[in-house]
Amino acid sequence: MPRKKKSVAVLYNHVGKDEYEELRKVDPATLDFTPEYPIHVATVKEEYRAIVSALESEGFRARAVNIRDDIARLQSVLRRNAPNAIFNLVEFFHDEARMEAAVAAMFDLHRIPFTGSPHFALALCRRKGLTKQVLLQNGVATPLFKVLKVSKVPRRHGLRYPLIVKPSREDASAGVEQESVVWDFSQLSERVNQMFEAFKPPILIEEFIEGKELHVSVLGNDPPVVLPILEFDFSALPEDHPTIITYEMKWNPLSLAYHKVHSVCPAQLSKRVEKRVQKHALQAYMATSCRDYARIDMRLSKTNKPYVLEVNPNPDLTESVSFMESAEAAGISFSQTLRKIVEFALERHTPFSIPAAGSA
Ligand SMILES: Nc1ncnc2c1ncn2[C@@H]1O[C@H](COP(=O)(O)OP(=O)(O)O)[C@@H](O)[C@H]1O
Ligand SMILES: [Mg+2]
Repeated sequence: MPRKKKSVAVLYNHVGKDEYEELRKVDPATLDFTPEYPIHVATVKEEYRAIVSALESEGFRARAVNIRDDIARLQSVLRRNAPNAIFNLVEFFHDEARMEAAVAAMFDLHRIPFTGSPHFALALCRRKGLTKQVLLQNGVATPLFKVLKVSKVPRRHGLRYPLIVKPSREDASAGVEQESVVWDFSQLSERVNQMFEAFKPPILIEEFIEGKELHVSVLGNDPPVVLPILEFDFSALPEDHPTIITYEMKWNPLSLAYHKVHSVCPAQLSKRVEKRVQKHALQAYMATSCRDYARIDMRLSKTNKPYVLEVNPNPDLTESVSFMESAEAAGISFSQTLRKIVEFALERHTPFSIPAAGSA
């Protein structure tokens, strides 16, 4: 008799309108530049559907569930008809990023295996300043920084310009714009004030690392493996554009910058630098308790010293983008990568047991 297929619920949380649906209405010919990539990117629904069909092609019984900020809906997935595993793609609850960790903790409380990092790693990595302290304590270099809780910047902050100003508890380049890179005290104070107006504190100010930007993807647990390193090529950007990944560049297919940055995988690095980057990525992954898959964002200094900017547990899994581009470069297809991630979760499943009295 054929074995029963394992069921996987691909869980996500999306409310409100789908911005990418809107792009369908734009005619590329109306832009004042020639786009290099398609501007009609996949809608939110299509993204999750792609994951579901890939999992089905790997022999799972998969369904996508949008929990729509509804705790009762989430509970019903967990209680009734519980899947063998949850593919956890929930990043917010009621628009609050810090709730990402609480949702993962619920899966644990219900003892349903789920993919990706545990709630501790999700909570830690949302706090960039704290993560940087953990990295430093574990021998991983990260740019020198200060955490600002109020919008007054001390003139003698001890950091060397240029600096970059960014919100400490956001991700996906929120608040990162061309003006984020500052060259003197007056630009710094102005940008810090703007950030305090737009985002919740704290705000980070950090030394700007001038060299290459690398996305280093890590897959697995025993032991975790570093996938081929991905590098960004900023050479096509207008000269006055700082070599950083801004919000526009990442998310707005109608902006010129979106079309002017290219990824190169594997990155062009010497063996020695590659080894150093891999070592730091693994240390960062383990020091922050990441699990199954994560992406470590790094910059190289002019002397090729790697600095970790941030750790991304449960990074974006869009086909051929960043994490998946690295997996594909390692010869692991989109669907195979997803299968591996589900298998990591299933392997963790231990039937409920009460420890014997007197055990540690
Ligand atoms: N210290 C830094 N030096 C150089 N570039 C930086 C630095 N910090 C951030 N950046 C740029 O800003 C982008 C976003 O910052 P990051 O720390 O990765 O936050 P997130 O991706 O969560 O918004 C990076 O991809 C990088 O291009
Ligand atoms: Mg980043």
